Amino acid sequence: MQIAPDSPQLAVVMVGLPARGKSYTARRMERYLSWLGYRTEIFNVGEYRRARVGAQVPHSFFDPDNPRGEEARRSLALAALDDMVAWLGDDGQVAIYDATNTTRERRTMVRARCERAGFQVLFIEIRCDDPHIIEANIRSTKLSSPDYKDSDPDEAVTDFRARIAHYERVYEPLADDEGAYLRVTGIGRGVTVSNVDGYLAGRLVFFLMNLHLTARPIWLTRHGESVYNVAGVLGGDPDLTADGYRYAQSLAQFLDRRDSDGNGMVIWTSSLQRAIQTAAPLGRTAWAWRALDEIDGGICDSMSHAQIQEQMPEEYEARKRNKFTYRYPRGESYQDIILRLEPVIIELERTRKPVLVVAHNAVLRALYAYFQGVPPERCPYLPIPLHTVIELTPHAYGCHETRIPLEPRVESSETR
Ligand code: F6P
Repeated sequence: MQIAPDSPQLAVVMVGLPARGKSYTARRMERYLSWLGYRTEIFNVGEYRRARVGAQVPHSFFDPDNPRGEEARRSLALAALDDMVAWLGDDGQVAIYDATNTTRERRTMVRARCERAGFQVLFIEIRCDDPHIIEANIRSTKLSSPDYKDSDPDEAVTDFRARIAHYERVYEPLADDEGAYLRVTGIGRGVTVSNVDGYLAGRLVFFLMNLHLTARPIWLTRHGESVYNVAGVLGGDPDLTADGYRYAQSLAQFLDRRDSDGNGMVIWTSSLQRAIQTAAPLGRTAWAWRALDEIDGGICDSMSHAQIQEQMPEEYEARKRNKFTYRYPRGESYQDIILRLEPVIIELERTRKPVLVVAHNAVLRALYAYFQGVPPERCPYLPIPLHTVIELTPHAYGCHETRIPLEPRVESSETR
């Protein structure tokens, strides 16, 4: 994906004390931008330390009064910075520099280096004073990190708290005169934006404004079997078959089990009949989005793959060569679908209730690729069978996935 022609590459520089959610936020941004097609990479200084100094260093390594520790940490920060600048100068587009960057001096150095190389800099500061969230972050992410492998959990927490205290002694919160920044005050609670300019930086601001930490499931399902599925024909706006209607009933029972008070979820469908018919027995309001409509097959709509192969062999071959970028004449490609699904992703991120999405093969492949961090070029090949609910529950490192087949079982093939 091209950045706007006059936009430079972007260096996103994280700022904040340990266990505030910087790496979590960095990974979320990386997944979002990679899904949109931007070459994005995280440069995590902690990983440089684990690789070069070792994972299990005592908290005194982080003590600002320990000159050897200070020197080692500075050189690790510089090594990651060198690699980041080289990567952006090569053919990277967005680099995320994931480190505490708690002193103004360090930030000034990172910013000057990036700006000299012609890159735009955006600081993202994560602040969090809620002791429960900090404790939860330590227990959920730090204790399982290589830094504390095989350590006693209570001793590990004590050591990590001592590590935080070292950083607290030198922490200088980001100031207004340090350039473009976005400050997140508790993920999901509020952001402050200053001096932010440019398309990608603007997209990141919008994305981060909508992130939250409330755990809830997202259910993805294709519509029930349609008349076109049985005929092996693409696209169109067909009705469900008798089996398709039966699936709609099974889906309604599934949801009743998951949401017994009948009010705790959001249902979205595409604007096509087969999706609307599938949601009809659910007994809840369903919102129809055109953005969720199936890939537009253009002049190949309502044809089978065999007919396309026979009547338009060049189109058939071109799609086989690159199914991700191939655009049906007067229709769409998978790449196009991702762009039109972006507002759906933002809404999925923003919504704190469980969400059921009733849609189609290609669009669900694209949504699934976002949640599971699948490289976009691989999304046209992901299996999304009929009559199956894919339950995704986002957590700190990605999504927990369960596939729940519902009755009636129907024959499944690549095109269905
Ligand atoms: O066959 C069902 C269907 O949803 C078609 O409407 C759509 O064109 C197709 O799947 C998408 O899958 P693929 O990109 O593998 O052809």
